[in-house]
Amino acid sequence: MIAQFDPDTGKIRHLLTLEQWPQELYLELFNRAQNFLDPATKRAKRGDELNDKTVVNAFFEPSTRTRLSFEIAAKRLGADVINFDVENSATSKGESMTDTLRVLECLGADLINIRHGGNLLDELSNLGDHNVAFCNAGDGKHAHPSQALLDVWTVLQERGTLDNLQVAIIGDIKHSRVARSLAVAFNAFGAEVRVAGPLDFLPSDEEMNSLGMMRTNNLDEALADVDVVVCLRIQLERGEDTPVGLRHPSEESYNYNIEQLRKNTEYTTDFRVDEKRLKLASTDVLVLHPGPMNREMEITSAVADGPQSRVFQQAANGVAMRMAIMTKLLED
Ligand code: CP
Repeated sequence: MIAQFDPDTGKIRHLLTLEQWPQELYLELFNRAQNFLDPATKRAKRGDELNDKTVVNAFFEPSTRTRLSFEIAAKRLGADVINFDVENSATSKGESMTDTLRVLECLGADLINIRHGGNLLDELSNLGDHNVAFCNAGDGKHAHPSQALLDVWTVLQERGTLDNLQVAIIGDIKHSRVARSLAVAFNAFGAEVRVAGPLDFLPSDEEMNSLGMMRTNNLDEALADVDVVVCLRIQLERGEDTPVGLRHPSEESYNYNIEQLRKNTEYTTDFRVDEKRLKLASTDVLVLHPGPMNREMEITSAVADGPQSRVFQQAANGVAMRMAIMTKLLED
């Protein structure tokens, strides 16, 4: 098992999951990220904190927001940035991810941001000795800590406090790494985290209990008076256990499947967050979505682009939060 925290100093060495994170560490990261923002432009400032460091983005699954914001963040801080090109790499010749990571370390990486479809903790447990920081940029359905950090920070920015929060997470919870990391992060601040989705999209009762998720009977119950609504995309790419009614022939493309899904009126009637449904929530509710959104499926455009939405602020905050994370992992 790879240790996130140095057993002697307590210093964080890797960011793999938010479990076991003390509240002070969240607050330090929120503060650090805020300090990276230019108060006038709300954009991330330039710095030289990583100008002797090499950061590698090793993404074994597709990404827009996470990969690009890690890249922009590292460049803003003066690092050498390498984007590992999986498709043209020795991965196609059968090289394992752990051997690839060892090679990246040998080539001089100080920090590797990894997105992977499997379980990163399991994968890294086979790695042996290493002297590089690893940052989980989203692994399978397990964890997406940098996303959860920027999401909770966005709520703090908007509300000025994380006290007494009621949060609803809606949709495909079972396949969502974001939902798992968000539940852990919101729970660290004592929030009530409700979930709603089709039965096939909910984790086991045991897992929901361990994550501090409170299952509700329907969307209306989940939304009642909440302060934050998090909408989630149906994760067709993790579809080995996607319900038959939502599964599509393997020969069809993912885009085709999404178009088909939009026509699934059973899902949209029961679980799409629209303006009418949103009126059940607190009047100053914040609507979050980690992206990518499938508009009109889990969220209507009127909500996604409406006054309560912070979806694009989340994306913007990704840069400063990832600057905060990388400087923390690489500080002496
Ligand atoms: N939220 C998120 O992880 O988006 P990307 O897949 O675009 O990185």
